[in-house]
Amino acid sequence: MTRYAHVVGWGSYAPPQVLTNADLERMVDTSDEWIRTRTGICERRLAGEGETTVSMSLQAARRALEVAGLRPAQLDLIIISTVTPDHAFPATACLVQDALGASHAAAFDLSAGCSGFIYGLSIAAHLLSAGAYQTALVVGAETLSRITDWSDRATAVLFGDGAGAVVLEVGENEGGVLSTLLGADGSGGDLLRLPAGGSKAPPSHRTVAERQHFIQMKGREVFRFAVKKLPEITREVVERAGLSLGDVSLLIPHQANQRIIDAAVRTLDLPPGTVYTNLERYGNTSSASIPIALSEAAEAGRIHPGDLVVCAGFGAGLTWGAAAIRWSRPHPAPPPRWLQFLRRMRYPLAAARSALRRLLRWLTSLGVRDYLDGEKR
Ligand code: COA
Repeated sequence: MTRYAHVVGWGSYAPPQVLTNADLERMVDTSDEWIRTRTGICERRLAGEGETTVSMSLQAARRALEVAGLRPAQLDLIIISTVTPDHAFPATACLVQDALGASHAAAFDLSAGCSGFIYGLSIAAHLLSAGAYQTALVVGAETLSRITDWSDRATAVLFGDGAGAVVLEVGENEGGVLSTLLGADGSGGDLLRLPAGGSKAPPSHRTVAERQHFIQMKGREVFRFAVKKLPEITREVVERAGLSLGDVSLLIPHQANQRIIDAAVRTLDLPPGTVYTNLERYGNTSSASIPIALSEAAEAGRIHPGDLVVCAGFGAGLTWGAAAIRWSRPHPAPPPRWLQFLRRMRYPLAAARSALRRLLRWLTSLGVRDYLDGEKR
């Protein structure tokens, strides 16, 4: 039997706090007009106090599971793509696994810059098709505001926070993720980077004084790379699926810059209306940008069962990736309130179970469990 990895759930989360171009005019030497014409961005969302990559991933994941109609315990695998994890370790995916109560899922993070979500989708789809798993949750989530230098106008205007997620499930019907393509060129690693905080330059007074814990970017060179790569990978992934550009129902590109997207559309000669953009509202949310756009497009009825959706991204590394997906399901109507309430109750229960596990671990460390086990015998 051929196994197809279908996208059966989708969801996104954008924090409520909005930072407009007018706000940025008050922070750095820039203008609304410059930002709009050079990037297409009007506003972006920022994580509030207490919000992190884990908390935003969780919101997006819960919505995706809701759409999929799956319980967290039915998940076999969780992949979270991020360059802004809560910690270097444990992995963001493990903390999300615990908070969801996805007790049977393997979980790991991956770092592939703004292409990360496509990397995660590709890995998950291949594992499902190969028979390793039945279901997978793939999340792209970023809290870029915490590594943005708010005094650097070249980068401060570009980035935002958020999370997007999809649930994949194996099916026998032909469709789902038809083809993927991944690539990298580390010779361009210096074009977009976070210089310090890793093993090469651990945090120190010097790295802080030199502002090395913030994004550094050679914008013009990244722009040139992206303008070339985006149409190239879009064309190639469609060909790998044995289809042509005329079959594409919707292109969901990485939401970095409207000029990059416009150039790709021109090169590919795609008809108007074939591209989904939302970067005017969110800016560049790195790994989160494609799954947020994908979820929004599906919720807005821009994607229908049978449609060919192509996602294509590029970013730090340098990396790139694309996926051609035959869409399987319509966006479902919201379930009745009582069912929503019951489903929401899963998460406090998951938190209680997690607390119990911690308690048992603590008791074990005190030797109490050994004593109790001895009593039982
Ligand atoms: N406001 C006003 N002026 C700004 C500015 C800002 N926020 N940022 C840069 N400028 C100025 C520059 O200082 C420069 O001034 P100068 O000509 O006096 O030296 C001028 O605008 C042009 O700068 P340049 O860097 O050539 O602009 P650009 O047209 O290349 O646009 C980016 C800059 C960053 C918008 C563009 O290069 C880009 O989008 N690159 C790709 C970035 C990206 O997508 N990164 C993520 C990849 S995942």
